[in-house]
Amino acid sequence: SAAQSIDRSQFAPLKNDLILRAARGEVVERPPCWIMRQAGRYLPEYHDVKGKRDFFETCRDAEVAAEITIQPVRRYKGLIDAAIIFSDILVIPQAMGMKVELIDGKGPHFPEPLRTPSDLQKVLDYEVDVLKELDWAFKAITLTRKNLNGEVPLFGFCGGPWTLLVYMSEGGGSRLFRYAKEWINLYPELSHKLLQKITDVAVEFLAQQVVAGAQILQVFESWGGELSSVDFDEFSLPYLKNIVERVPKRLIELGITEHVPMTVFSKGSWYALDKLCNSGFDTVSLDWSWDPKEAVKINNGRVVLQGNLDPGVIYGSDEIITKKVQYMIENFNGSKKNYIINFGHGTHPFMDTEKIRFFLKECHRLGSN
Ligand code: CP3
Repeated sequence: SAAQSIDRSQFAPLKNDLILRAARGEVVERPPCWIMRQAGRYLPEYHDVKGKRDFFETCRDAEVAAEITIQPVRRYKGLIDAAIIFSDILVIPQAMGMKVELIDGKGPHFPEPLRTPSDLQKVLDYEVDVLKELDWAFKAITLTRKNLNGEVPLFGFCGGPWTLLVYMSEGGGSRLFRYAKEWINLYPELSHKLLQKITDVAVEFLAQQVVAGAQILQVFESWGGELSSVDFDEFSLPYLKNIVERVPKRLIELGITEHVPMTVFSKGSWYALDKLCNSGFDTVSLDWSWDPKEAVKINNGRVVLQGNLDPGVIYGSDEIITKKVQYMIENFNGSKKNYIINFGHGTHPFMDTEKIRFFLKECHRLGSN
């Protein structure tokens, strides 16, 4: 497909490369920190900018998406070591020709989810032009990188193939995963075709996000934990590995030779940590079910671990926040190497912005010891 032509002279030199050094496995002065869903509804300034726009409209407007992405970096100045582009994992299904809406207070909704082999065939036959369909996403990344002015590196991201199969078949969030389980157990071969197609789009999407200006990448396999260990090995892991193998090759074809760190977050996949540490990702992000001590033992220095405070701790007293941050930092290797601070999942809309500031300050104080 056609190339993007990005004027890289508009990007200021990076003032804070802590997360890139940590992701390369270097010894750093303190563990870097950022928070999943650090932009969005818990910030009053997000609502001010979003106004009455629909969620995907905010993502597609480069000025608005850049502003929302930068809001947490600005509010918590000096306390956050990365930005993540304001977008969603469901833009891949959109690029594959599916309609996706976001219903306020209810979450994502697909009016025509994949339920039958003929539904699927339409998606398999749809030719995806990533540069064209996701042009708005690349424009938002380029503008955000420019407007960040080198403050912190910018994450690009996408959804894991299995997680996207779940949304595309369930049509939204789910408790029982009836349709996704039907796909993999009734039509395993067709499921593999869909997973491979999603993977192909994800590889191109991630690589082009880097061309547009992203400096580090994360893959969100948020429903990983809904698979059995055996099914994870068949329906998730091979596709995650395929992504991490192919993105660097695609980047070289696109003229980018520097190593771009890649993180995988497979929520709930406790049984797969050892395999994820061997999967080729630089960083493995952990949910809060892990005791850091156990994760460090299993990892045994292979990758950089990211995580994993239960975001619910933010509802606690300052004393409890301090205690839990201290436990986390101490037990992730004493923190100067192979560790990036994060939550085990995203912020909630009702979280107190000053409690989050306190959490970040404690991460800096205790991480610098
Ligand atoms: O700060 C950031 O993290 C950047 C932006 C971001 C969003 N979604 C914005 C968003 C990122 C990285 C995502 C990823 C995403 N989206 C995931 C993976 C991470 C995870 O949470 O497991 C998943 C599973 C989705 C799918 C999705 N999008 C859901 C389930 C929902 C509704 C639930 C909710 O939190 O409201 C969305 C919508 C969404 N994506 C919102 C935001 C800020 C809420 C939009 C709004 O109502 O304003």
